[in-house]
Amino acid sequence: MKTSLLKSLLFGAFILLLTFTSTWAGEIELRITKNYLNFPVSHQEDRHKMTFHIPGQADLTVVIRLSADEPDYWVFKDVSNLKGKTIKISYEGNEAGLSKIYQADEIEGEANIYQEKNRPQFHFTTQRGWINDPNGLLFHDGEYHLFYQHNPYEREWENMHWGHAVSKDLIHWEELPDALYPDHLGAMFSGSAVIDYNNTAGFNKKNTPAMIAAYTAAGPEKQVQAIAYSLDNGRTFTKYEGNPVIDSKHIWNSQDTRDPKVFWYEPGKHWVMVLNERDGHSIYNSNDLKNWEYQSHITGFWECPELFELPIDGDTNNTLWVMYGASGTYMLGDFDGKTFTPKAGKYQFTSGPIYAAQTFTNVPNGRRIQIGWGQITHPEMPFKGMMMLPTELSLKETKDGPRLFNLPVKETEQLFTPIQHWETLSAEKANEALKPLSESGEVRIKTTIKLSHATSAGLNLFGQNILNYDLNFNKINGVFYSPNDPTSMEISADIYIDRSSIEVFVDGGALTLIMPRRPDTNNNEGFHFWGNNIEIKNLEVFEAKSIWE
Ligand code: FRU
Repeated sequence: MKTSLLKSLLFGAFILLLTFTSTWAGEIELRITKNYLNFPVSHQEDRHKMTFHIPGQADLTVVIRLSADEPDYWVFKDVSNLKGKTIKISYEGNEAGLSKIYQADEIEGEANIYQEKNRPQFHFTTQRGWINDPNGLLFHDGEYHLFYQHNPYEREWENMHWGHAVSKDLIHWEELPDALYPDHLGAMFSGSAVIDYNNTAGFNKKNTPAMIAAYTAAGPEKQVQAIAYSLDNGRTFTKYEGNPVIDSKHIWNSQDTRDPKVFWYEPGKHWVMVLNERDGHSIYNSNDLKNWEYQSHITGFWECPELFELPIDGDTNNTLWVMYGASGTYMLGDFDGKTFTPKAGKYQFTSGPIYAAQTFTNVPNGRRIQIGWGQITHPEMPFKGMMMLPTELSLKETKDGPRLFNLPVKETEQLFTPIQHWETLSAEKANEALKPLSESGEVRIKTTIKLSHATSAGLNLFGQNILNYDLNFNKINGVFYSPNDPTSMEISADIYIDRSSIEVFVDGGALTLIMPRRPDTNNNEGFHFWGNNIEIKNLEVFEAKSIWE
């Protein structure tokens, strides 16, 4: 009796052990015949390591919350270039999810893509996963390239890859497979891209100048700078075997050395890299993009450097250099190829959840076009974050000296059809006029408000302050703002409302406000102009087209 109890106990333990070992960690082998692998994701699961063993390639390890039951959503990996190959996928978590990974020529949910309820309609978002900083913004051969920080495996930050999308007009984007994958040096953090017209790095082939990406590889110990080149317009990259090209942790005694922004400095005929290191931006020079020499450092900036020259009021004989970091606060100054010398700043031209903006390299006609990351959530969607509208930057002389102005690029006009226009309305009449629009998914509104009896005025949508101008404290939505004419009793705004975001360009781009769009919480007020005795001098309404049609 006793022995049989012991036996069955032992047997039970053995079965338990079997279940345990077969449930945790597993491996599948797949012969790739289709374009995509689809993976179920559940936020009930912890993240565990998944490794792709692909013949002829270094292993790729990521972390994923592979769903063992009902997934929250599906993510995918483009494997179209692996057709005919047999790959192995190993997973250190609950292996029950492994059997749910499947191949198909469509991604799971493709029929509905870009039409999901909370999908922004005139802003770029990724099909699946998380995005943050725009990277490698570049115009080349008729195409705008938008690379970006991408976690293809979850809608939260991790596994940094460089995602990739291209556009012919800065408005309509086509998402392509990821361009850079994590490697032995680390995850693919932010950076920039250039075209090496003079073959300085020696990667060019015949008549094809290389596109060269400079990025940060972020390992567990340190962040180093690396380069990779593409001879097929950014579709595939080869990493330079001499990476890293800069390893400066020991110099700065800091983990934070990242986000190389590289450009060609024509007067000195050399490359310049602006790199965020510890407490500010460093300048490095190079003749070949591989060997970099440290030049100078300016404190007071954090992450994602930018440095470019702009004419003041369009006068190319009167220019200043603009330097900013991820927050967008900027200094104006001089640059001699080695040192940035600030003359004025820091100033703020954007406010709200916009971060890590970058400008495009090589845009024709000297246009300086910026895209910023919108730190915006789209409730219940299988993706997070967005790219804000592409805007053109300019320097304009103001009563306080030259300042940065920011307006949507002229290409955005094609998306907006004027439907109504009023002049000289009372707030009540204007509210009446806007009533039918409150529920619209997407709309653009241009308006000028005139104050006379009020010290503050503005426009709300379902109780949310889209514009809240306080003339007494000189603030708009809490940010200091003084109009160019300090006696002005007017404020104008160009307002772009998408499904989950709002962008407000104040007084011709003097200040940009970004905000998430709050849903209607049964406040039946809708659009609502407020302020004692205000006059709505001008009110224009535009219908918005989707960029995904
Ligand atoms: C800014 C940033 C960069 C870094 C990247 C990582 O948002 O922290 O400094 O390279 O994001 O995703």
